[in-house]
Amino acid sequence: MRITSFEQYKEVYQESIANPENFWSDIASHFIWKKKWDKVLEWNFDEPKIEWFKGATVNITENIFEKNLPQYENKNAIIWEPNDPKQKNITLTYKELFEKVCQFANGLKSIGIKKGDRVCIYLPMIPELAIAVLACARIGAIHSVVFAGFSANSLSDRIQDAEAKLVITADGLNRGAKEVSLKTIVDEALKICPSVKYTIIFPCLAWEVNFKENHDLWWNDVIKNQNNYCPAEEMDSEDILFILYTSGSTGKPKGVVHTCGGYMVYTAYTFLNVYQYEKDDIYWCTADIGWITGHSYIIYGPLLNAATSVMFEGVPTFPDASRFWQIVDKYKVNQFLTAPTALRSLMAYGEDYVKKQDLSSLKILGTVGEPINAEAWHWYHDVIGKGKCPIVDNWWQTETGGIMITGIGSFSPLKPTFAGYPLPGIEPVLLTPEVKEIQEHDVEGYLCIKSPWPAILRSTYGDHERCRLTYFSHYNGYYFTGDGAKRDENGMYRIIGRIDDVINVSGHRFGTAEIENAINENELVIESAVVGYPHPIKGQSIYAFVVCEHDVLDEFIASKSILETVTKEIGKIALPEKILFVSALPKTRSGKIMRRILRKIAEGDIANLGDTSTLLDPAVVTEIVGKAF
Ligand code: WT7
Repeated sequence: MRITSFEQYKEVYQESIANPENFWSDIASHFIWKKKWDKVLEWNFDEPKIEWFKGATVNITENIFEKNLPQYENKNAIIWEPNDPKQKNITLTYKELFEKVCQFANGLKSIGIKKGDRVCIYLPMIPELAIAVLACARIGAIHSVVFAGFSANSLSDRIQDAEAKLVITADGLNRGAKEVSLKTIVDEALKICPSVKYTIIFPCLAWEVNFKENHDLWWNDVIKNQNNYCPAEEMDSEDILFILYTSGSTGKPKGVVHTCGGYMVYTAYTFLNVYQYEKDDIYWCTADIGWITGHSYIIYGPLLNAATSVMFEGVPTFPDASRFWQIVDKYKVNQFLTAPTALRSLMAYGEDYVKKQDLSSLKILGTVGEPINAEAWHWYHDVIGKGKCPIVDNWWQTETGGIMITGIGSFSPLKPTFAGYPLPGIEPVLLTPEVKEIQEHDVEGYLCIKSPWPAILRSTYGDHERCRLTYFSHYNGYYFTGDGAKRDENGMYRIIGRIDDVINVSGHRFGTAEIENAINENELVIESAVVGYPHPIKGQSIYAFVVCEHDVLDEFIASKSILETVTKEIGKIALPEKILFVSALPKTRSGKIMRRILRKIAEGDIANLGDTSTLLDPAVVTEIVGKAF
């Protein structure tokens, strides 16, 4: 499975495109299947219908445990580093993790959770989060992890959409110096979630909770007297492994559906190759398991490869800005993966926080989640990697399940701000607005993918038509990524950013409509328009133009009230950085909000507002510009 040179990559890539079925069946043969497939791939992008390893049965956890235990039983699977550096860390060997997963899996069965049931996991970055995810996979329950920074409203939307039977949470969490009472949020969310039969609570902080008899269960009671072996449920290759909600250009987040066989093969293959993991390496991805990066590259990809995966509960700047580098030093981390926003925030603290630590163990540095700017790239390369570690810039999406365009290991060419080349099996194309493939190099276009890879999303939960409309209808016959990209004279790709109404704030995705819906819930507000604009640390930030019922007398108080509403509707992670109160929004005669103009204003580029004469009321623009500057 391992590619070891750039020359070999080029050969393997050609083969993978010329004969994808042979290519992927060779890779898949390295795994334990309970029954082999009848057909490697069947697909059409019209419905869409994509089936990998049809007819095969498998359990992803058998490929983590049963496959790896004979050789690696005493190797650390997870090293958990707590938020508070004074607290003791936790290590779990493959054997210990397996027993905990089985025990909890048996506990889930004992309360009636079975194959196909949806389980919502709303936990801090503690080992129990990984245990809960794997226990679901063990028994074939579908996990839906919700990042523990989302509000009660967002949580209840996701629980309702998936009709989850069970919620797994904790009393509370510590993130940096902050504390959050998760159980209170869950209680609030569950007021309108009739599908939920039980809530399991892990005592993370030994807080008192409002404990509801016949509904709430303590984690420790669920696992009490449970056997530490649980047989793996036999899953169809195309059975759902998990749902993960993500934002798009429409108001409501979508439940992206990933299935068992293809996701397993793809995350394992891409992890091994991109990070060139060797058996004694320590690998650390700083993401939260609430996002796809944590699913694919903290849990599944690394553990399928019998890797040691570091899991960190805290934040980069607590207790101070040296924390990441202290952890790298403490565990002698060899492969390190983080987001550009974290790098930019740490860069701002200066090099003193880096100098005291020994970072010589590092071999490969990864970046993911948003385009990396040249300055952050060089800082990462020179100050963290001391000029010796290649940077692999991983472009992919919740929907793609795994890395798509990237550098590989230490041998592919590096070019700051360019993600790199497509991985084997991935056929990116750049399209014109007229849906023509651009063949030349040194061009820009809409980034689409021409053929399926094993971890492509299969559906959006409960609404397949939405999946078709969002990803397969704009450009007939292609998977549409929503990103614009550039291809250089050597065929290397650079991702420019979203071309739809999606904003990427610190690597987190929000739809403008989603934030507008939240703002419009405020009783002062008539309507609003939200755009993204460049932010030095977050990448992009949120700018809200708001029209209120009456003249706002005190803009400070009104802003505060709107921020509270967004916190309640989505969570603090979606707060606008700027709110501008205006008397009207620029609209076309047909009533469409002209976001392009608002985006220019938010960017401060008022010299290039373009033609405003076709607007319903061009004077609105003059007023907004006057207020904004
Ligand atoms: C969007 C997907 C991939 C896991 C984390 C985010 C942007 C992601 C890169 C990168 C430039 C990137 C794209 C993409 N993006 N990685 N290396 N370079 N842009 O997953 O929340 O599904 O967001 O993030 O715009 O479409 P996500």
